[in-house]
Amino acid sequence: MRTQVAIVGAGPSGLLLGQLLHKAGVDAVVLERQSGEYVLGRIRAGVLEQVCVDLLDEAGIGARMHREGLVHDGFEILAGGERQRVDLNALTGGKSVLVYGQTELTRDLMEARADAGLATVYEAEGVAVHGFDGARPYVTYRAAGQERRLDCDFVAGCDGFHGVCRASVPKGAIVEYEKLYPFGWLGLLADTPPVSDELIYVNSPRGFALCSMRSRTRSRYYLQVPLSGSVDAWTDDAFWEELRLRLDAPARARLVTGPALEKSIAPLRSFVAEPLRFGRLFLAGDAGHIVPPTGAKGLNLAATDVKFLAAALIEFYRERSEAGLEHYSARCLRRVWRAERFSWWFTMLTHRFPDDGPIAAKFQHAELDYLLNSEAGLRTIAENYVGLPLDFGAA
Ligand code: FAD
Ligand code: DHB
Repeated sequence: MRTQVAIVGAGPSGLLLGQLLHKAGVDAVVLERQSGEYVLGRIRAGVLEQVCVDLLDEAGIGARMHREGLVHDGFEILAGGERQRVDLNALTGGKSVLVYGQTELTRDLMEARADAGLATVYEAEGVAVHGFDGARPYVTYRAAGQERRLDCDFVAGCDGFHGVCRASVPKGAIVEYEKLYPFGWLGLLADTPPVSDELIYVNSPRGFALCSMRSRTRSRYYLQVPLSGSVDAWTDDAFWEELRLRLDAPARARLVTGPALEKSIAPLRSFVAEPLRFGRLFLAGDAGHIVPPTGAKGLNLAATDVKFLAAALIEFYRERSEAGLEHYSARCLRRVWRAERFSWWFTMLTHRFPDDGPIAAKFQHAELDYLLNSEAGLRTIAENYVGLPLDFGAA
C-alpha cells in the first residue's frame, strides 16, 4: 500500500491531522495499535482553548462541539479556605474556554473519517517506522494476521508518550527533558450534576483537588493521590469522602455523589523531546511532549502541533516548498515550552509536595494571596489559561 502521509496513532493528534490533510486533498492512512472502542474508553482532557476550537471548525467537525460544549468565562481557585474567581473574559479582552470532552471530540473525528471513507487500520500490531532519514520512508505492521507495508513520503508520529516513533529515533539525535512529580491524579467520572457552574481548582492541606465537568449532568473530579496506591484501593465512597474533606462548606453542601462511570490514576510528568523532526519523521502531541494536567494544556498543545504540521505538509504538496517543514520543530517548541512552564508552575502552586516542610505551604499561600489580589497576577493566570498566541514574533 502507498500513501502520502503515514500517521501513527488515532488519538486526537492523528485523527485531526488526518482530517485537515483530507480537506486539503492530501492522502493519509492512520495506523492505531488499539481498537476504536478502546480509544474512546480513555477519559482524558475536558477544556479546549479558542485556538483548538477554531481548528476543529476548520477541520469541519465543530457542529456537535458548539451544540453540546459549555462556554466557560471563568473558573475559581479555592485556597486557604477562600474562593477567588479568575474572570477569564474580563482579564483577556473577551476570551473564554470550551468544556467539551476529549472522548466526544475523538468520536466526532472518528465519525468524520469513517463518513469520508478514509483508511484507518485499528489493532495494527508491531508498527515499525523505517527509512525516515532518506527520501522513501515506510511503515511495517501486522493486521488481521498478515504482515503489511505502507510506503509514504512522510511519517507523522502521533502515537503518544509510549509510542514507537520517538523510540525509533537514534539516541544521539534527540534530547529528552523530563520531570516526574511525586504524586498522581485520581479521576472519577459520574452522572451527577457538577458541584458548581465553573471549574474549581482546590489547594487544600490534604492535597489538590479539581472539580470539573463534561456536561450539566456529568461531573469529572480529580484528587491528588500518592503514586504508591492502586486505583482498586479507592472505593467510590472513599473518593467522595476525601473530596468532601478538600472542599469548602458551600461546595460540600452542593456536592451530589453517585456511582463512578470510570476511575483511574494518571502520573504527572513534564517532558519535552527536542527536536520534533527527524528527516521525514515528525512528532506531534504527546509523542513529543507531556505536561502535568493542571491547567488543561495537553490536548490544546497537541492541536497546535497538528495545525503547524498540517500547514507545512499542505504547503509542501501545493508549492513544493519545504519552508514549513523546516520551521515545524522550532515553531512548535516555543509554544510548547511556554505551556510546559505554565503547567509546571500551576502544579507547584496548587499541590502538596510530600518532601516539603510547612514553610512551602506558607510560600504557596503567600504567592496565591499575591496573585489573586493583583490585577497583574490574575491576568497572568488568565492569559495562560485561555491559551497563548500561536506565534510570538521574534525570539
Ligand atoms: P494520545 O491521545 O496518547 O494518542 C496516541 C495514540 O497512539 C493512542 O491511541 C495510542 O493507542 C496510539 N499508539 C501508541 N503506540 C502506538 C503504536 N506503537 N502503534 C500504533 N498506535 C500507537 N490533557 C488535558 O488537557 N486535560 C486533561 O485533563 C488531561 N488528562 C489526561 C489524563 C491521562 C490519563 C492522560 C494519559 C492524558 C491526559 N491529558 C489531559 C493529556 C491529553 O489527553 C493528551 O495531551 C492528548 O491525549 C494527546 O493526544 P495525542 O493524540 O497526541 O496522544
Ligand atoms: C480537566 C482536566 C484538567 O487537567 C483541567 O485543568 C481542567 C479540566 C478535565 O478533565 O475536565
